[in-house]
Amino acid sequence: MPAESQAPAATALSTVAPEPGAAKPDPILVADGVTRSFGGLHAVAVDHLELQRGAITALIGPNGAGKTTLFNLLTGFDRAGSGTWTFDGAKVSQLPAYRLARRGMVRTFQLTKALARLTVLENLQLGATEQRGERMYAALMRPLWRGQEADNRVRAEELLERFKLDHLRDAHAGTLSGGQRKLLELARALMVRPSMLMLDEPMAGVNPALAQSLLEHIVELRDEGMTVCFVEHDMDMVMGTSDWVVCLAEGQVIAEGTPRAISTNSQVVDAYLGKQHGTPPAEESS
Ligand SMILES: Nc1ncnc2c1ncn2[C@@H]1O[C@H](COP(=O)(O)OP(=O)(O)OP(=O)(O)O)[C@@H](O)[C@H]1O
Ligand SMILES: [Mg+2]
Repeated sequence: MPAESQAPAATALSTVAPEPGAAKPDPILVADGVTRSFGGLHAVAVDHLELQRGAITALIGPNGAGKTTLFNLLTGFDRAGSGTWTFDGAKVSQLPAYRLARRGMVRTFQLTKALARLTVLENLQLGATEQRGERMYAALMRPLWRGQEADNRVRAEELLERFKLDHLRDAHAGTLSGGQRKLLELARALMVRPSMLMLDEPMAGVNPALAQSLLEHIVELRDEGMTVCFVEHDMDMVMGTSDWVVCLAEGQVIAEGTPRAISTNSQVVDAYLGKQHGTPPAEESS
C-alpha cells in the first residue's frame, strides 16, 4: 500500500482528533446540521463537518451511505431539508450551483455528463459558461463576451494539453473512452479556476493506467493549493492520495481520520471495509 501523504496539509491535519465532526486548523468548508430525506429515508444527516483548506479529503462509505446526496447539497444541485454551511467563510447554504462555482466550488458527477455530440473543446468551453450561469441577455451582447470567449479558448487549450487530450480536441465526446471522459470532466471543472473541487467517484470505471494518471493530477492540483474532496471506493487509491478520510454510513459521519487511522478504525471496518467485495462494477457512462 502506498505511503501516506507528506503534504503540508497532511502535517496540519496530523494534530486533529480522529473523531466525527473534528475541528480543522483552517477549514474551507464548514457544514452544520445538514439533512436531506427522501420520503421516510434519512439520506443525509450530518451534524458537523469541516474540510481542511489545501487538503485532499476522501469521502468513503457503503453504497447508499449518502455521499452523492451530500455532494449534491453542498454544491447546490439539491436542496437540503435543513442545515447551514459556509465556504471560505461565507454562508453559502442553498445557493445554486452556478453561484457556488463563481465563488470557487465546483463538482464533477459520478456519471459523466460530457455532451456526446459536442467536441472535446466545445465541452470545455461550455463548462466555463455553464458554471458562470450565463444569462440570455449577456448571450445576446456578443461584444461584451468576445474577450471572455478568447480567454476561455486559451484556458481550454491549456487544459487539453495538461490532461493529454489535445489530440482529441475535435473528437466528439461520445467517441471517448470512459476514462477519457472522466479526464474531460475534470478538465471542464477546472475551466473556472476553482479553489475547491468536489469529485464524485472520479476513478470509477477507469482503467488502472488512466486512474493512476487521474490520481496524479489530483495530487498535483492539491500541491498547487487547490482543496479537493473526492468520493472513492478503492481503499488503495484513498490511502495513496488523501490527507484525511471521512466515512459516511446511513447519512452520518461515523468516523474521520488520517488514511492510516481510518483503515483500522473498527466502526469503519464494521460498516464498510469488512463488507467490501473487491472493486465495485465498472459503471456505464452516458
Ligand atoms: N432522488 C432520490 N430519490 C429517492 N431516494 C434517493 C434519491 N437520491 C438518493 N436516494 C437514496 O438516498 C440514499 C443515499 O444515496 P446516495 O446516492 O447519496 O448514496 P452514495 O453514498 O452516493 O452511494 P453509492 O456509493 O452507491 O454512489 C440511498 O438510499 C438512495 O437510494
Ligand atoms: Mg454516489
